[in-house]
Amino acid sequence: MKPRTDGAKARAARRAPPDVAARPAGARDAGTALPDIDGSRLLASLETLGRIGALDGGGVCRLALTDEDKAGRDWVVERMRELGLRITIDGIGNVIGVYPGDEDVAPVMTGSHIDTVRTGGLYDGNYGVLAGLEVLRVLREAGVRGRKPIAVAFFTNEEGARFAPDMMGSLVFQGGLGLDEALATRGIDGSTVGENLERIGYRGSAPVGAAAVDSYVELHIEQGPVLDLEGISIGAVESVQGISWTEFTVLGVSNHAGTTPMRLRRDAGLVAARIACFARELANGIGGDQVATVGAVNLFPNLVNVIPNRAVFTVDLRNTDGETLQRAEQRLRRFADEAAAAEGVSLSRRALARFDPVRFDPDLVALVERSATALGLRTRRMPSGAGHDAQMLARICPAAMIFVPSVDGLSHNVREHTAPGDLVAGARVLLRVLAQLAECPPFSGNR
Ligand code: GLV
Ligand code: MN
Ligand code: MN
Repeated sequence: MKPRTDGAKARAARRAPPDVAARPAGARDAGTALPDIDGSRLLASLETLGRIGALDGGGVCRLALTDEDKAGRDWVVERMRELGLRITIDGIGNVIGVYPGDEDVAPVMTGSHIDTVRTGGLYDGNYGVLAGLEVLRVLREAGVRGRKPIAVAFFTNEEGARFAPDMMGSLVFQGGLGLDEALATRGIDGSTVGENLERIGYRGSAPVGAAAVDSYVELHIEQGPVLDLEGISIGAVESVQGISWTEFTVLGVSNHAGTTPMRLRRDAGLVAARIACFARELANGIGGDQVATVGAVNLFPNLVNVIPNRAVFTVDLRNTDGETLQRAEQRLRRFADEAAAAEGVSLSRRALARFDPVRFDPDLVALVERSATALGLRTRRMPSGAGHDAQMLARICPAAMIFVPSVDGLSHNVREHTAPGDLVAGARVLLRVLAQLAECPPFSGNR
C-alpha cells in the first residue's frame, strides 16, 4: 500500500477540532445564541445505526431494500417519531420527517440516504441523515422554531449498487424517472424495486414528489482526499460531476481451454479485459477530472478450463465537464465495438445511469461558506466526485452541499473514516445553514 503521510500531516496541522464530548447538552453556539449540536449524541447515533448490517471486521452492508436496509429504516423512523416529526413515506419509499415552522410553507430540507454499498462505511449518507435529525433535536429541545418548516429526508437507493440508477429515490421524487419504471427496475439478483419495497413494508402511500421544497442542503463526507490532504474542515460544494454508467454484455463461444487453438477462440472474457484496460488508458489520456472504473465483472461459466462464452461488466465514467464526458463515452463505445469485432464476438450495451454535471445554487454555496467561516472553520469550494441526492433536488429548488474530510480519502470501503471533531463541525455548519434558511431566531428576516 502507498504511504499516506501527507494527509496525516495536514490533519495534525488543522485547527484543533472542537472538544466534542466536553460540550454539555443544551450548550449554545456563542456567536448566534443558537442551541449547539450535542456531538456525543450525534456520534453515538452513527455508531448505533452502523451496527445494523455491520460486517465482521468493520464496515456495513445495507444494500437498498434488503432486510438490513429495512432494519436501518425502522431505526431512523423511530428516531423521527421520538422527535414528533410529521412523517411521510412515498411510493418509492423515500421517508421525510418534518419539523413544523410558524407558517405552513414549503420546508427547508436536508437529508441523504441510509442504504450502503456492499462494503460500506458508517458515514456515507448516514451522516447527513443523522446530523439533520440532531439539528432538529437541538432546535426542539431549545424550543426554537423557524418561519419555515425543516424536513429531514432519507431517499431510497442512493447507491445504485443493487438497483441502477443511483439516486433513484430522489430522481423519482424530482420527476426525472417515472414511479412505475422505477418500481419495475430489476436489481443484480433479478428481483424488482417494487417487490422489495412491498416486502420490507416501505411502499408508502404519500404521492411521490408532491411536496414543494424551499431549498435543500445535504451534509456528507467528501469521500475523496482533497480536504484531508489540505487540512481543511469544510468543503462548500459548488458542483457534482457528470456520471455515465454502462453495462456491457459480450457473447462469445465456450470451448475447451486445452484443445482450442488461440487463433480459433471467441473469448468473451478477453474482450471484457481489453475494454477494462482501455477504460483506464482513456481516463489517463484525457487527464484532468476524468475517471473510469470497471467495478463489476461476471464471466460465464466462470470455470478454470472453459473459455468464457459471456462477459457482463460495468463501466463507470465521470467528469466535471459534460462535453469531455461525452467524448469519453464515444471513444469507449468505438473501442468496445472494435475489440468485439476483432475477436468475432457480439457486444451489446445498456445504459444504467446517465446524469449531466450539476451546478449548485451560488447563494447557497456562499451561505455554507459564510456559516463555516463564522464558526472559525477553514473552508474551500470544491466539486463533488460522488453522486448525491442533492444533485436531483437541485433540479427543483436551490441546493448545495457541505463536505467534511474523509481520512485518506477512503469511501465505499469498510475503513471509511472521518475524525469525530470534523463530523461535529459539519453538523454545526448544517445547523447554522438550516437555521438561516428556515429563518429561525436569531436569523429571522435576514440571511
Ligand atoms: C454514489 O455513491 C456514487 O457516486 O456512486
Ligand atoms: Mn452517499
Ligand atoms: Mn456511496
